[in-house]
Amino acid sequence: MQLIQRFYPVIMDYLEQNSFVREPKGLYEPVDYIMQLGGKRLRPILALAACDLFGTDYKKALPAALAVEVFHNFSLVHDDIMDDATLRRGKPTVHEKYDTNTAILSGDVMLILAYKSLCETADKSLTPRLIDIFNETAELVCEGQQYDMEFETSDEITIAQYLKMIELKTAALLRGSLQMGAVIGGVEEDDFYHISEYGRKVGIAFQLQDDFLDTFGDNQKVGKKRGGDILQNKKTWMILKAYEVADPERKNALKTWMKDKTGDEDQKIEAVTKILEDLNIPDMTVALMKKYRDEALDHLTKLTGAKAAVSGLEELANLIIVRDY
Ligand code: IPE
Ligand code: IPE
Ligand code: MG
Ligand code: MG
Ligand code: MG
Repeated sequence: MQLIQRFYPVIMDYLEQNSFVREPKGLYEPVDYIMQLGGKRLRPILALAACDLFGTDYKKALPAALAVEVFHNFSLVHDDIMDDATLRRGKPTVHEKYDTNTAILSGDVMLILAYKSLCETADKSLTPRLIDIFNETAELVCEGQQYDMEFETSDEITIAQYLKMIELKTAALLRGSLQMGAVIGGVEEDDFYHISEYGRKVGIAFQLQDDFLDTFGDNQKVGKKRGGDILQNKKTWMILKAYEVADPERKNALKTWMKDKTGDEDQKIEAVTKILEDLNIPDMTVALMKKYRDEALDHLTKLTGAKAAVSGLEELANLIIVRDY
């Protein structure tokens, strides 16, 4: 809780000072809506924590922290269109509450607002490097989202392809948030590598837990429709692992369910969930997340220039794999 307790209120204050409410309301009200809807604020916490870790006043990383949170929320607005999701953080998604055109354009302007915030970083000598990191990160997220969608209609996806996909769509932004914070913090090259790798590993674990919660979480806490990934035929690690360990009968049943988009939704969710449970997939997912968590922690031990304790990032890596929302 250290990092969350310390930085969550700071981010909320900064968000309040930087209101998105302006004209035309039709464009900016949905931006304000999604930004105020809540969320864990994990990525800005990582940006501030990384800056602080290398001995620099975390306030210098606030514009970058806001940038990564706005970018994240932009990606969610568009992701919810792509995933046909009706609920986000327990409330209607932007395209449900407004309409799809609004969600597209409000999302687009959020991407620009994210860049604008990043460019408000006071030390202008850092801007080119920060923009480079931001660009690389954003490009990777788009690539990951493309694979994620393509995989919906294929039943030939391998676990390696899935892991690469989540590294792109999700881990890239956790890594990028840490990288930007670390650069503002004055990180040296070796440590830049280790903090990046920490972010990549934690990011993979984070998406594994996101997938787990989509099927096995409490939808009141998670704030999304339970089983949404199953309905969209998402080829998560859980599904791919189930293909690998299932007897032929269960494997066939699962493959048939994971192609279908027409039948009874609840029946499909129940059937697929039961197969995963019967095959002990939840325990296997936990074991895999622990592997990535351990690899992340290992990179923290290799940092040589940290000026603050790494215990906050250690704790965060542990929290990410047990979180229930
Ligand atoms: C959801 O991210 C999208 C993923 C990359 C898994 P979060 O779970 O961080 O969403 P919020 O911001 O806390 O709602
Ligand atoms: C989203 O992955 C990753 C993004 C780049 C937005 P998901 O589609 O699993 O995220 P949720 O579950 O809708 O939050
Ligand atoms: Mg998605
Ligand atoms: Mg989604
Ligand atoms: Mg998800």
